[in-house]
Amino acid sequence: MATEEKTVPRHVAIIMDGNGRWAKKRFLPRNAGHAQGSRVAEQICEDAYNLGIEYLTIYAFSTENWARPKEEVDALMKLLRKYMKDSIARSSKNNMRVRVIGDISALDDDLRESIRTLERVSSVNTGLQFQVAINYGGRDEIMRAAKAFALDCAEGRKKPDELDEAVFYSYFDTAGIPYPDLLIRTSGEMRTSNFLPWQLAYTEFYFTDVLWPDFNKKELQKAIDYYSTRDRRFGGVK
Ligand code: IPE
Ligand code: IPE
Ligand code: MG
Repeated sequence: MATEEKTVPRHVAIIMDGNGRWAKKRFLPRNAGHAQGSRVAEQICEDAYNLGIEYLTIYAFSTENWARPKEEVDALMKLLRKYMKDSIARSSKNNMRVRVIGDISALDDDLRESIRTLERVSSVNTGLQFQVAINYGGRDEIMRAAKAFALDCAEGRKKPDELDEAVFYSYFDTAGIPYPDLLIRTSGEMRTSNFLPWQLAYTEFYFTDVLWPDFNKKELQKAIDYYSTRDRRFGGVK
């Protein structure tokens, strides 16, 4: 490996899982795990960029996470509020562009406002292209795209025949963003939990038992090393 050049994935997607178990192991409330997880997410943006990753997409809150106790949902929303506010200054400092994917119409007005400000001020930034999934569900995203295309057809802007992969993808929250090359999920679970089902169709998967609050640059490097060893054939022959 030493003499070979490593292939760095252009787009990495992460399912940050294990905050609750990390807290439980320390006899702390689950929310303490989320707070630590949020700090790790900040650091990983810097690390990812320094390792040569262009696009990073993280799963912060799923359409299914509303099923958690109200107290936990409230604490997660509070953390997201702070994260979005802090990111406004941080994004200009490190030239990072931030976009939120998911159905933000269900979020509180002030959180939506911070998201809009952050997306606007960071839109010119050319460093890390960072996507945060909030109230994101892959099935929901596909249905919203289908509805928007159907509406364009009904109103004469599009014809059903025009639909192909590129046209359909232009209706997605991640339109214009290349599909992920590598998916990382922490905490030992081997499922995708409704994260980017369309976009992950040809992605390499890396699972680790490390809990998200313990994840760091070294662990990210391990995932990239694993990625370098993969032979991506995309259905062809090499
Ligand atoms: C991931 O950690 C964070 C979110 C889903 C918001 P969890 O809260 O799912 O942690 P575990 O899986 O219970 O350990
Ligand atoms: C996936 O983790 C969602 C996020 C990381 C935001 P969960 O902990 O909610 O997923 P399940 O319940 O284990 O599938
Ligand atoms: Mg979990």
